Amino acid sequence: MNILILGSGGREYSIGLAISKEQEQHNITFCPGNGATDRLGNNIDIKDYNQLASWAKQNNIDLTIVGPEAPLVDGVVDIFKENGLTIFGPSAKAAKLEGSKVYMKNILKKYNIPTAAFIETSSKDEAYDFIDSMKKTPIVVKADGLCAGKGVIIANSKEEAKEAVNGMLSGQSFGDAGSKVVVEEYLDGYELSIFAICDGDNYVVLPAAQDHKRVGDGDTGPNTGGMGAYAPTPLVNNDIYQKVEDRVIKPTLEGMKKEGAPFEGVLFIGVMVVDGEPIILEYNVRFGDPECEILMPLLETSVSELFYKGATKQLDKLDIKIKDQYGVAVVMASKNYPYSSSQAVEIIVDQIVDEDLKNNSHISYAGVSKDGDKLFATGGRVLLCCGFGNSIKIARDRAYALCGQVHFAGKKCRTDIAYQALK
Ligand code: AMP
Ligand code: GLY
Repeated sequence: MNILILGSGGREYSIGLAISKEQEQHNITFCPGNGATDRLGNNIDIKDYNQLASWAKQNNIDLTIVGPEAPLVDGVVDIFKENGLTIFGPSAKAAKLEGSKVYMKNILKKYNIPTAAFIETSSKDEAYDFIDSMKKTPIVVKADGLCAGKGVIIANSKEEAKEAVNGMLSGQSFGDAGSKVVVEEYLDGYELSIFAICDGDNYVVLPAAQDHKRVGDGDTGPNTGGMGAYAPTPLVNNDIYQKVEDRVIKPTLEGMKKEGAPFEGVLFIGVMVVDGEPIILEYNVRFGDPECEILMPLLETSVSELFYKGATKQLDKLDIKIKDQYGVAVVMASKNYPYSSSQAVEIIVDQIVDEDLKNNSHISYAGVSKDGDKLFATGGRVLLCCGFGNSIKIARDRAYALCGQVHFAGKKCRTDIAYQALK
């Protein structure tokens, strides 16, 4: 197939890497890709989605896969479908599940899907009254729109919660994205990322993963896009999977059909397990990054087939196969991440001589550019060292062994990825 992948991060690299390893040969194009994706295919840079759809038609693209949320919320899937192209992802209407937290919470409420008690409002007084009525702190305040992962404040007191509301509603904190807010109760439990690949009617569930959102060891410091992930996590059991299917995925797919926005694409379910019960924190409408980087290599089923069947309503014909293995991904980030940008620095990767490491680990490249044969770290999350093995510990040791072979000035990573599974 001729496959187009939209996005430029480690997530898109990992999708491309998995496809490039399939038995069947595919031609892969990334838009825009990064300094390493052109090792797996070609990079193009077309920003206008109508122009991109024309390019895809001219170049006989058989399947387009969308990595990040922004193009989905902006309607790239609708434009490609109007042009008769096959694309895997939700319509703009269905992508509102991620684009608007108010919409998402109202869908959860309407279809009785377990979630934190909340109020959604654009009135300061209403938000303050709700905060005053809350019996416990912390209190969670969320901006309605997309805020690049920064729109959630966990306030430790009612005063702090009101300040957060005020900052959002006044437009000071997040501009228009904060013109409505969600205020909700704090859920105390452990967090899981569960991904359902959906075709509007049918779905397949991938092994549950855990992300590590804070920048520092022991979950300290500010939130990031994610500093590492592992899967499958032993913190989930069949009972939780079953509850997520029955109480969350099925009613969401049924509900979205009733809303006239059938859900096709990756439903990323942010779950908090509280006393053994899965409660929904949020939906995203795409793969998590870094979760994708370990889930793609764990698939025995070919990734292109999975996404193609997802895009063409054939998931009922797919018997998904997952490798009997664990994966751990450790993000290596730039010096100033997540506070500010960092100067571009060269990346050196040692030649891996250890056969065991060579065969059971790899790098997924994210924030990199190239100059001739050289790769440069361009800031943010630079790359992920991914290790695989028959236990989480073996996989983690391999991921960290690979980290030791990667060098760039100011590199930093968490040293405790997968700690919740290993304690
Ligand atoms: P969200 O963008 O809604 O996933 O929020 C970002 C992060 O904030 C989540 O991954 C959780 O770690 C945390 N969070 C969000 N909502 C809650 C809540 N109601 N209770 C506890 N933690 C939360
Ligand atoms: N890993 C969390 C996210 O992609 O939003």
